[in-house]
Amino acid sequence: MRAAVNEHIARLKAYVPGLQPREDEQVIKLNTNENPYPPSPWVEEAIREEGAESLRLYPNPTSRRLRETAASLYGLAPAQILCGNGSDEILGILLRTFTTRGDAIGYYQPSYSYYKTLGEIHALELLPTPLGENPTEPPLPADRDVRLFFLTNPNSPMGFSLKPEFVARLADHVQGVLVVDEAYADFAGWDCLALIQDIPNLVVTRTLSKSYSLAGLRVGFAFGAEQWIEQMDKVRDHYNLNRIAQAAACVALRDQPHFHENRVRILKTRERFRQALGEMGIESYPSEANFVFARLASAKAASRIFDALTERGIYVRYFPEAGLDRGLRISIGTDEQMDRLLEELRAVVP
Ligand SMILES: Cc1ncc(COP(=O)(O)O)c(C=O)c1O
Repeated sequence: MRAAVNEHIARLKAYVPGLQPREDEQVIKLNTNENPYPPSPWVEEAIREEGAESLRLYPNPTSRRLRETAASLYGLAPAQILCGNGSDEILGILLRTFTTRGDAIGYYQPSYSYYKTLGEIHALELLPTPLGENPTEPPLPADRDVRLFFLTNPNSPMGFSLKPEFVARLADHVQGVLVVDEAYADFAGWDCLALIQDIPNLVVTRTLSKSYSLAGLRVGFAFGAEQWIEQMDKVRDHYNLNRIAQAAACVALRDQPHFHENRVRILKTRERFRQALGEMGIESYPSEANFVFARLASAKAASRIFDALTERGIYVRYFPEAGLDRGLRISIGTDEQMDRLLEELRAVVP
């Protein structure tokens, strides 16, 4: 049987998502940047209205209403928008549209590690550019022929965000398309969406998983020039968003008051949490996302604290690779959850 599998797939180390608790486990889950607050109440209503009866029918193949809703919210044309089953699916569509086996893709390291896995799945050459000693002022990548360059902005796992002026310079510098992965941009003070109107080789991706509390619904977007979206649309599975996802995502986008209220709560908790960490002598990058990257004294200390927290039922994320192994990425939960975490940290941090 092994002989039937592509060799590069047999060799592949699959992407490992953050630990998921068992259904019956009560944990404080701060390891995958989910939102601690429920989505808009309109979402539940929309799901109920959609009902089970309609599920015998296929969904709208182009997520037409959702694209129109997003277009009016973001001031774009529906033809500049592609919907995905989560923004992870959008990343896969980008690779299938713009690359063939042996082509190169680039990305900063550290950033979202799924780009590397996707590149390996598609048998591409990987050209990571280290963020360097001062990650908030990264070097421009070496002048190489990449079909796509991925920029996680705000950065995950570190949380800082590069300004649109830098992103415009990067787009001018890279060969191929610059993909700005804005999974966390709703928590930042700025974003790069407006740049797509003037910079032809720029595609921005977003998700409803974080700022709209809809990680389980699986809805993401690509925004870009009509010429790219039209090509990506050919590659997409024709019914990629189910009926419930389309209906619920539309109302979630429409309920902007709920979105803003939720967002402000997270930002307040984030700043309070960073300050409390600072008072304990734990440094962190200023965060433009719904998580904080806390830097401990050493890799050994970070891994020990990670284990101690996990044992106490608090899940955070530890990345054992060089450059990140001194830190813990901690999603922003409710105030009560962050207080519990701080209490446990005070007990385990020397
Ligand atoms: C930077 C980044 N991009 C994309 C994603 C994928 O999000 P989605 O749930 O929309 O697939 C994540 C999820 O954690 C992420 O951190």
